[in-house]
Formats: sequence, structure tokens, C-alpha cells
Amino acid sequence: NLNSSGNLIGMGHMMGGDRATVLDESGQEMTELRLPELAEPDSESATEITYTVTAQAGETAFLEGEKTETLGYNGSYLGPVLVVHEGQKVHIKTENQLSAATSFHWHGLKLPSDMDGGPHHPVGPNETMQVDFTVKQEAATLWFHPHALGTTAEQVYAGLSGLIFVEDDNSDKLDLPKDYGVNDFPLIIQDRTFDTDNQFDYAGTYNPDGTYGDTLLVNGTINPYVKVKNEQIRLRLVNGSNARNYTFGLENAAVFYQIASDGGFLEQPVALTSVTLTPGERAEIVVDLSEYAEGDTLQLMDGNVTVLSLNVTEETDIQTALPKILNEIPEPTVEGAVIQQFTLSGMSFMVNINGNQFDMDRIDVEQRLNETVIWEVRNAQDMMGSMIHPFHIHGVQFQVLSRDGEEPPQNEQGWKDTVAVYPGETVRLAVTFSEKGVFMYHCHILEHEDNGMMGQVSVQ
Ligand code: C2O
Ligand code: CU
Ligand code: CU
Repeated sequence: NLNSSGNLIGMGHMMGGDRATVLDESGQEMTELRLPELAEPDSESATEITYTVTAQAGETAFLEGEKTETLGYNGSYLGPVLVVHEGQKVHIKTENQLSAATSFHWHGLKLPSDMDGGPHHPVGPNETMQVDFTVKQEAATLWFHPHALGTTAEQVYAGLSGLIFVEDDNSDKLDLPKDYGVNDFPLIIQDRTFDTDNQFDYAGTYNPDGTYGDTLLVNGTINPYVKVKNEQIRLRLVNGSNARNYTFGLENAAVFYQIASDGGFLEQPVALTSVTLTPGERAEIVVDLSEYAEGDTLQLMDGNVTVLSLNVTEETDIQTALPKILNEIPEPTVEGAVIQQFTLSGMSFMVNINGNQFDMDRIDVEQRLNETVIWEVRNAQDMMGSMIHPFHIHGVQFQVLSRDGEEPPQNEQGWKDTVAVYPGETVRLAVTFSEKGVFMYHCHILEHEDNGMMGQVSVQ
């Protein structure tokens, strides 16, 4: 494993709080999965929706005993799900009740750059910022998190991350599991280290190449289970970790279906036995439990660590089949397209793109609005060592053209905003911006981003 430092312990030993607990087969206590709330809009019509998102400090019970000091949106840890519909005008009043500056970045949204919430748009303590945009993209599971200069990693680690579900006519129509909290579950997967006082030990475990934790949290739950019927279960996997990569699979290498990548549905469900997600990436998968009976369980795993136990507690006769066609994705037209090269190199505080570290006063690349450019992203093999860099671009959903000249795997032949680039590898992307302004691109290992592995593209 190229870039994991420390082993992951999936099982906390001292679960508790106010959640129901049961024992798993090895006698470990399990806790019912916490579910982010669907945000209550301030107002809503078919064409318009208004939300308030407040960054705040609080305390969260993860372990028995002392609570953990955390940050959250509209709550003490993580945030609510903002549901928006394609074509809707969205208004979000963002509010910072923290003692430090933050920003509100909408990861995966195609929106004008002055609404993007990158390092150009800090919101100071007790300040607010109004965010207005129209949803001009298809159904997808996106997320939001802070992005202020140099503090993204610590603020995300403390708990600032929320979800955005974009819906559209296609997702409304598709016969997919969509009963939130019943057969449709978001899973924000993170790793954290607790100190002896049950506090997050970010400072003590900080690593400039990405801070890893030894305890897995799923929506802020240690060792979670969820009660389900024996039907199709949709899991919206979000790698919300600072640095850890996960390879998700089911117990006994059972087959599941990936139905969506970062920016929307794949053309067809893709049968898989594992899916790897680097920080920032998402995958929606469907697990078929129709052959299971009441009392059965199936574990979602990361290697040999349990991520979530699906506990069948009820049987149903109503079984649906996955749609054969989920989406229509146009072939990218890149004939004669300009090729723009990006080389990722360095380690630790020296990480850079094309030899440069982030400078807000420097535009690194220019691109024309609605022009498709081939971004050729190379992860240089370094003598000092090398890592997978998850490469993310703001304000756009792109397509992966190739990995080292080869066609990408089927589950990467859909809309993406973050792509893993392996050591020595060259990945080609078809990138078309539909909004003007200055957008960031960066490594989504949050410590790399904060350490300057980030650049700016000006779209005019
Ligand atoms: Cu998810 Cu620039 O970030
Ligand atoms: Cu982003
Ligand atoms: Cu990196």
C-alpha cells in the first residue's frame, strides 16, 4: 500500500452514546448508522429553493465518556443533505459562527466562480455570504466543505462536510431505490484518531502527506449497522477523508452494481466486486439483498475492515430489477483539441503542479468557455517517493479519456470531478467549462491542497 500510514481499526471498542447498540459476531458493540438530516428549506417552490447553512462548533458523542469537540453545518458534526433539482434557482445563506475564517465550497457543482467558495471567498467569523446559482447539471451526489486558504484539512477533519443531492427528471423517473434512510443511504467515510480524552488528535497525527486516522467513521458512526429489508439497497459512497483511499467490496466478494460516478449516473449499471475511491471521489452502488432472509447480514468492507453491516430485519415480496439504461453520456469530442499538461510532483511541503505551488495572484492556465481541452495529468515518479494524487477540478464535470493510453474502466466512463492519478501514470481528461471565472484545480489529499498542490484556471 503506497500511502497508508498506520492501520485502520474498523471496530471501536467503546461505543455508546444514545444510539442503539447490538453486538456483531465477534462480540463488538455496533451502533445504528447515523443519517444526515435532509435539510429543511427556508422556502421552496418548483423553480426556487432557499437554504441556510451555518458552520458551527459543537460536541459530538462518538465514544463512551467524554464528548468530542467538533465542527458541523447546522449541527455538531458533518451537515445536512441539501436536495436541489436541475433547473431550480438555489439560494443559500451561508453563515460562519466559528472563531476562524472558513469558506463554503460546493464540490462538483457547475456554478459561476464567484459562488464557488474557494480560497478567494473566505467568510470571516460572524459573517455571512449569500450564494445564488441555478442548477445546470444532472442528478448526482455532490458534497460541500470548507476551502479557506491553508485550513481546509483541519476544518474538514473537525467535521465540516455536507451533502448535495441533485435530482432531475431522469432520477425522478428511474426505478431505483430512493427511499431515504430506508433503501437509500449516503455513507460519508472518514478516518480519525482519538486521543485519551476522546478528542480528535489532528495536531498529534498531522502528516504533511495526508493525515490518517486509526478509527473509521461512517456518517460519524463507529462500527455502524443499518436495518434494511431484503431488497435493493443504494449506498452513496463519499470518500470524505483527508487522505485515505478505500477499496470497497462486499463480504465474500459478492457482486454489486455501480450506478453513478462523481457527477451523475453511468450509462448502465456496472457489475463489480470492488471499487476504489480516493479522497473527494463518490460512487453510488446498489447491493441486491433479494436472496437474503430476515436475520441475515452482509458487510460492506474496505479490505478486511468492516465499514457497515447491512442487517436484514424484514422481508418483502416487492422486488425490483435495476434499470438496464441509466443515462445517456455523450462521447467527448476531442479531435484537434488543445492539450494542456499538468505534472504532479514532490512530497510533503514541496508538493507542486508543473513546478509551482499555489499562488492566488497567479493564473496558471487559461481556457475558453465551452471549449473542450484535453488535460493531460501526469504523476511524476519521484526519487523521494510517490503517492496516488486525487486530482480535482472545480466548477466542472469532466470525462476520463484514458489511463496511460488505455481506455478507462467502465465505472470511470461517466462524469467525474476527481480522478485518482497513480504514481508514474498519465491520465487524460476531456474538460469543458460552462461557467466563467477563476477555478481551482488541486490534489484532494487535503494536506497537499493546503501545502500548495493547487493551481488556477481562468475561463473566459
Ligand atoms: Cu472538494 Cu477544491 O475541493
Ligand atoms: Cu471542489
Ligand atoms: Cu497529492
